[in-house]
Amino acid sequence: MILGIAGSMRQKSLNAALLRAAAELAPAAAPVEIASIRGIPLYDGDVEAAAIPDAVAELKERVAQADGLLLVTPEYNQSLPGVFKNAIDWLSRPARDIRRVFGDCPVGLMGATPGLGGTRLAQTAWLSVVRTLGMRPWFGQNLFVPNAQHAFDEEGRLVDEKLRGLVTSYMSGFATFVELNRRPKKAQI
Ligand SMILES: Cc1cc2nc3c(=O)[nH]c(=O)nc-3n(C[C@H](O)[C@H](O)[C@H](O)COP(=O)(O)O)c2cc1C
Repeated sequence: MILGIAGSMRQKSLNAALLRAAAELAPAAAPVEIASIRGIPLYDGDVEAAAIPDAVAELKERVAQADGLLLVTPEYNQSLPGVFKNAIDWLSRPARDIRRVFGDCPVGLMGATPGLGGTRLAQTAWLSVVRTLGMRPWFGQNLFVPNAQHAFDEEGRLVDEKLRGLVTSYMSGFATFVELNRRPKKAQI
């Protein structure tokens, strides 16, 4: 199973819509489950010292059990959004769990923006996080979606046919990469 997370909590998020399209267009043999960063609190070391919040523990376990992770990222101020990184930062705690949760996990990146850059800079900023967590990024195809407000209809369905083709080929390539890089099954904790 591939776990997809969009880095926006907005009801009409373009990135959440892109993630839904990726799930719809993924090969049947590589189902995508959609997770959310909603409910993840701001990271606070004192909160961590008391107990890992339930929403964090739950999402962390879903990542640990996933065969692949798809990060669908907005771009804020030419970098990655703090709300999204905050969620991943929480999942990386305590640090002794990083290997179990993220280690060798195949990861794909895509993103949508009304801007012209298509989230190139946000996706590039994610690479140092991906490296630090010991994941395996897939570089077989880029998926940058500029002018994204025109690609989806009012209900957030991907209606741009060319883009549907690009998402389909991205998900097909990423699914193959995930299959070739399967992690050993983790014991649930
Ligand atoms: C604080 C902030 C900074 C932004 N900076 C950028 C940027 O650097 N590049 C860009 O393409 N879009 C930028 N945007 C516009 C976002 O791409 C746009 O709001 C997008 O719809 C957010 O993703 P979502 O639709 O999934 O919520 C910024 C938006 C916010 C709120």
